[in-house]
Amino acid sequence: MKKTISFSRAVKGELSLPGDKSISHRAAIFNSIARGKATISNFSTGEDCKSTLSCLKALGVKITGVKNMPNTVVIEGKGRSALREPSDILDAGNSGTTMRLMSGLLAAQPFFSVITGDESLRSRPMKRIIEPLSLMGAEIRGRNNDTLAPLSIKGGMLRGIEYRLPVASAQVKSSIILAALFAGSATKILEPAVSRDHTEQLLSYMGAQIKRNNNALDITPIANDLKPIDMNVPADISSAAYWLVAASIHPMAELKILNCGINPTRTGILDVLSNMGAKFYLINQRIEGGEPIADIVVSSSNLKGTRIEGDMIPRLIDEIPVIALAACFARGTTIIKDAGELRAKESDRIETTTSELSKLGANIEALPDGMIINGPCPLKGGITNSHFDHRLAMTLAVAGMVSPNKTVIDNSQVAEVSYPSFWEDLTRLQKAV
Ligand code: S3P
Repeated sequence: MKKTISFSRAVKGELSLPGDKSISHRAAIFNSIARGKATISNFSTGEDCKSTLSCLKALGVKITGVKNMPNTVVIEGKGRSALREPSDILDAGNSGTTMRLMSGLLAAQPFFSVITGDESLRSRPMKRIIEPLSLMGAEIRGRNNDTLAPLSIKGGMLRGIEYRLPVASAQVKSSIILAALFAGSATKILEPAVSRDHTEQLLSYMGAQIKRNNNALDITPIANDLKPIDMNVPADISSAAYWLVAASIHPMAELKILNCGINPTRTGILDVLSNMGAKFYLINQRIEGGEPIADIVVSSSNLKGTRIEGDMIPRLIDEIPVIALAACFARGTTIIKDAGELRAKESDRIETTTSELSKLGANIEALPDGMIINGPCPLKGGITNSHFDHRLAMTLAVAGMVSPNKTVIDNSQVAEVSYPSFWEDLTRLQKAV
């Protein structure tokens, strides 16, 4: 599907965004192995989290909706040994989080399963989970010499390991943690930099023993069932990122984003926008379900270039395409380094971001592990393609809102992976002039 985006005369209004995708996946998976009912509201509406729910249902978990309460799911966990062998192949769709977290869980189950995904997911690296899960004792096979999905998993009794993650990846960390909960002995994970910590936070809240000591995590296997947790999922800061940037780079903007998750392992975008001189502030800061939340008010800003590298990268990895767009409107050079992981996302985001923003007039160059943007290079509009990557589709749409000529985005439907109502929100903001 093609979308054509015109210049917005203003970007004004208030937004309630879909629930955080990372937290929604985890709330669904962890409550499925707890004992009791959990009601999760503002559950992510994205296709990725639907993939997680359908995998869990195929393992025998009862998951239902609630009448007159959209985006609410009830998960009925029957305890840590209640999952059943699926009768068919599990489908993780486009979702790396589904495939990697579910694989960790499946590695510890006394049955056989196969998990696959769409073309993009079948090309993404899986050795990073196969290696540690195999060290723990699971039998996992995959295509291309055990590196790509579909994966076949024969789980069973696992042993704890000490494992140094080669990349700072919350998906890999969480996959190992899930397996470690069921192992016969303790597991230690060493992270090169701290990645999002929703798994540790939520599992600890549910009764698991996970201790952090700087970049080391010690996980004790669970002796008792986890407690189910009702929660209201905060708005996804990775979805908020499009509007934070749209408002910062548009000359007539003021937006309020409600109930947004501001977990410090996810707020790299706020730190970078602040370094770039963006005008925003947080109000109503509070904690819900162990996660910090705030409303964010953001308005038109004069941005300057910045440098983004090192430990900052895992804190904003999904926001880099839209940060690159912000850099096109900033005075001076922006350098993004140490972000080679971008090449292993839904698309090779270094290539796709540079090629698509270049088509719109950006002065942007790809590096092996990042990008250089020489700003300001205000964009003019043009014909682009999402490369079936949701984050790119939405970045290009925001580019269209600030470009004088029309911007066409081919394969725009892919935004539904994380933010199905994105196009409605965009239209609403454009109309509210
Ligand atoms: C996620 C972790 C990140 C992120 C992805 C969601 C998660 O991936 O890019 O969108 O929910 O754990 P990596 O852990 O592979 O960096």
